[in-house]
Amino acid sequence: MRTIDWVDGRIHIIDQTLLPGEEVSLSLETVEEVAEAISSLRVRGAPALGVAGGLGVALAARRAREDGEDVGEAISRAASLLASTRPTAVNLRWGIERVEGVYDPSRPESVEDLIREARAMVEEDEKINRLIGEVGAGLIEGGSRVLTHCNAGALACVAHGTALSIVKVAHERGLVAGVTATETRPLLQGSRLTAWELKRMGVPHRVTIDSGAAGLIASGSIDVVVTGADRIAANGDVANKVGTYPLALAANASGVPFVVAAPLSTIDLATPDGGAIPIEERSASEVLEVNGLRIAPEGTEAYNPAFDVTPASLVSAIVTEAGIVRPGVDDLRTLFEEAPWVGETTG
Ligand code: MRU
Repeated sequence: MRTIDWVDGRIHIIDQTLLPGEEVSLSLETVEEVAEAISSLRVRGAPALGVAGGLGVALAARRAREDGEDVGEAISRAASLLASTRPTAVNLRWGIERVEGVYDPSRPESVEDLIREARAMVEEDEKINRLIGEVGAGLIEGGSRVLTHCNAGALACVAHGTALSIVKVAHERGLVAGVTATETRPLLQGSRLTAWELKRMGVPHRVTIDSGAAGLIASGSIDVVVTGADRIAANGDVANKVGTYPLALAANASGVPFVVAAPLSTIDLATPDGGAIPIEERSASEVLEVNGLRIAPEGTEAYNPAFDVTPASLVSAIVTEAGIVRPGVDDLRTLFEEAPWVGETTG
C-alpha cells in the first residue's frame, strides 16, 4: 500500500499520527486539509512531503475548475499555503513548484496536465526509492548491525523509503544482522513508525532511547549508521531529524560509516551550506507534554527544533538514485549530470 496516492480525484494518505495502534487511511478533499495533514505530521518525511505538495496543487486546481473559480489564483494560493507548512524539507517546495510550473492559463485543459504531472511524481517516487535501496545496499557488508534515526522508510515516501529501502534490499540479500532504531523524541517516529515497518519487513530490530545511541556506537555494537535527509546543501551539509548530528559525531569518533540516503529532490544546489537551511521549530507542548499530560512545571519554556545540520565532513556517503557521492571528495553537481530523471517531462 502507498503512503500517499491520488485516488478518484482525492489524496489518500495513511494517518501516521495514529500508527502503530491504528491503520487509518484518510481521503483529503481540499488544500486546507492537505496543509493540516502536513503540519500535524499525518503525512511526513521529505519525499512524501514533495508528493503531498505536488498533489495538493493539483487538487486545488481541480477544485477551482469544478467550482468555476480562477484556476491560476487557486494554484498560487495553494502553493503559498502548502509551502508555509514546513520549511526545512526542500522536497515540499520542489513538488509544489514542479506541478505549479505545468499550468498554462491560456489552455484550460492544462489542469489535466497538472494532475498528470502530480501523479507521475507518485510513480517516480516509488521507482526512485527502490533504486536508492539497490544502490545503497552495495555499501552494506554481510552481518551488518545497522542504526537508523527517525523514520526514513516507506511511510516517509510513497513506498520503500530511503534509508529503510537500503535496509530492505540489504535484508533481502541476507546482509543485515539487525537494526537499532532510535526512538526519536519527541514525536517518536523511530519507535512508532520505523519499528512498525521493520516488523512488517521481518528484519530483526530493537528500539533505543535517543541518548543511548552514542554509547551503543562507541561500544562497537553498530557497523553502519544510515539516515535520511530533509535537505542537502550544495556543499554536502545535511539537515535531518534533530539528533542526527550527534549520531554522526559518535559514528565518526568510532570510525563507523555514516551514510545518508535521499533522492535528488532533497539536494538543494541553491543552498550553499547548512547554515542557510531554515530549521523548523515546533510547538513547546511536544516537549513539555506526553500524551497531553504536562511533565514540566508550568512556566517552563522549551527549545524544540525539528531538525539539525550534520556537516559534510561527518558524512561518509550520500546515496541517491543517480549514484553515491562522498561529500568533500565528489561534487554533488555531478549527480544531476548523470541522473536519468533530470529534464524528463511526463506530459
Ligand atoms: O519531522 P519528520 O518526521 O517529517 O522528519 C523526517 C525526517 O527527518 C526523515 O529522516 C527525512 O524526512 C527523510 S525521509 C526519507
